[in-house]
Amino acid sequence: MAEMVYRVRGLCKAYGPRRVLDGLDFELARGECLVILGRSGCGKSVTLRQLNGLEQPDAGEVIFDGTDVTRLSERELYPVRRRVAMLFQGGALFDSMTVYENIAFPLREHTGMDEEQIADTVRRKLAMVRLRDVEDKMPSALSGGMKKRVALARSLALDPEVMLYDEPTTGLDPVTSAAIGRLIADMQERLGVTSLVVTHDLALARTVGDRLGFLDGGRFRFLGTWAEADASDDRVLSNFLHGVAEVEDAA
Ligand SMILES: Nc1ncnc2c1ncn2[C@@H]1O[C@H](COP(=O)(O)OP(=O)(O)OP(=O)(O)O)[C@@H](O)[C@H]1O
Ligand SMILES: [Mg+2]
Repeated sequence: MAEMVYRVRGLCKAYGPRRVLDGLDFELARGECLVILGRSGCGKSVTLRQLNGLEQPDAGEVIFDGTDVTRLSERELYPVRRRVAMLFQGGALFDSMTVYENIAFPLREHTGMDEEQIADTVRRKLAMVRLRDVEDKMPSALSGGMKKRVALARSLALDPEVMLYDEPTTGLDPVTSAAIGRLIADMQERLGVTSLVVTHDLALARTVGDRLGFLDGGRFRFLGTWAEADASDDRVLSNFLHGVAEVEDAA
């Protein structure tokens, strides 16, 4: 039996009158890669933020390795955030820090590494995302794709057990996107990293996803393998996967 890293049950989240998550359930097995797909604004980023305690749901539980993270204080969340890293949709680099300091930041926060170890780790993480000679640059001097890769290097800094990727390839050229896809797959295969990938990039989703979840109406309308998704007779799902525009309320 697979060990479940996350068990999410009955997750609900509203902002004012807008119900975004409405009884979301899913599990994430250790070492698997689950891709979350869905229309813009359906709650994918909101879902990720509930998983590492960045936001509190209105109801439901998020069991990570036996503990409900929705009930933890900021201090109790600290060790969770060391084990679960997130690549934010917008990158979220510190603009006033160099690339080096950005990647060193979590190492200084969470480890007792000396400067030499930090420098070595920063170099290795930058190599993983195929960047060199950028340590001294400010984020404002980088292209969008480079910023994204620096942000990825920073989220990998602590060798997380779980990686939450929010649109890791958006804005990247096809070659870099493919390289990021290989990196995600590699981390899963070689290091056993469990990953959750939110994306609109269907090529990436098929490459890295062991399963996919199609978020619609605040919960997974479909959750299963690609083979199951391709065989599904759910028109809304297949239209989404084939980029077919839906006639309003045809569903
Ligand atoms: N902090 C917030 N305050 C108010 N509304 C929010 C907040 N965060 C998200 N929302 C709303 O929740 C809904 C879902 O947002 P979310 O960012 O999860 O969408 P998404 O599926 O990630 O979309 P995209 O594919 O465009 O990134 C949107 O209607 C958004 O406006
Ligand atoms: Mg989003």
